[in-house]
Amino acid sequence: MNILEVEHITKRFRKKTVVDDISFSAEEGKVLGFIGPNGAGKTTMLKLITNILIPDSGSIHIAGFDILKDREKALANVAGVIENPALYLELNGYDNLKFIQKMYQKSKDDMERIVEIIGLGHAMRQKTGRYSLGMKQRLGLGMALLADPRFLILDEPTNGLDASGIMELRGLIRQKAEEGVTVLLSSHILSEVDKIADDVVFIKEGRIIEKSEVPPMQKKYLVTAGNARHIQEQLAAMEHVEAVLRDDSVTVEISMSQEVFARVMQLVCQGENQVQDIRQEGTQLETVYQDIFQEDA
Ligand SMILES: Nc1ncnc2c1ncn2[C@@H]1O[C@H](COP(=O)(O)OP(=O)(O)OP(=O)(O)O)[C@@H](O)[C@H]1O
Ligand SMILES: [Mg+2]
Repeated sequence: MNILEVEHITKRFRKKTVVDDISFSAEEGKVLGFIGPNGAGKTTMLKLITNILIPDSGSIHIAGFDILKDREKALANVAGVIENPALYLELNGYDNLKFIQKMYQKSKDDMERIVEIIGLGHAMRQKTGRYSLGMKQRLGLGMALLADPRFLILDEPTNGLDASGIMELRGLIRQKAEEGVTVLLSSHILSEVDKIADDVVFIKEGRIIEKSEVPPMQKKYLVTAGNARHIQEQLAAMEHVEAVLRDDSVTVEISMSQEVFARVMQLVCQGENQVQDIRQEGTQLETVYQDIFQEDA
């Protein structure tokens, strides 16, 4: 089931078309990456989905409810952080969270758990107006998580987070997806999203770059083995895998989608193949991204 259906959405600011006939959907329990360079229209699209902005044309359904006609029912399924977390800057972190706890009728335990997750224990009694960018992001994320939505929207969530914060966030997003939550997260950095997203949507100058123009998300591995030729032959028959023997005849280039990874590795690593080394090459997606957005680089 698709928790989100965006159909032919267009949004103009004055004469400028910022979102141009965009359609895409998000499948329940999946992490969908929304990727594009600065100014592509990501934040605008996320604001349209959450009814902060009204489209000029097109429709958006969340959990089957029309965002314009059935606003409350649609929005009951969503929480997120868009652009900058909406905080009461005069209040401390604790009271900001408390507000969400009351609104969504969550328990004190739920709230304590979130404080633990966002790692702001020491700063919860401090006015959020004095928080750093990363602290604000963490609190905003905590508020969205406390709301416990079926559909979580995160606009550039790694903004302001340090390396360990980014790692934690990745784990958290994957965990949410395991629990059946759908996550839509935007980024202008592909490599960040690539690691956690099940699927990606590319946006550029307000338009979606069609899936047909983007090859399936594949990862490439270089395997060095005494019996490289045998590996290549074994994999030749498998679907979703492409194996090419290099001229040196000890290296096989294997491109595959994530779903067959375990099966391929099992085959490759059989003793008779005499594997010496396996390295991952830049994902093919990375190359695709560079091609699509080159003129923006
Ligand atoms: N309220 C507004 N009024 C006029 N123009 C706007 C408004 N909000 C956004 N824009 C314009 O719409 C375009 C898309 O902006 P948007 O914030 O959606 O991009 P983005 O993809 O989120 O970029 P970034 O990666 O920098 O966050 C930009 O050209 C921006 O200047
Ligand atoms: Mg933005």
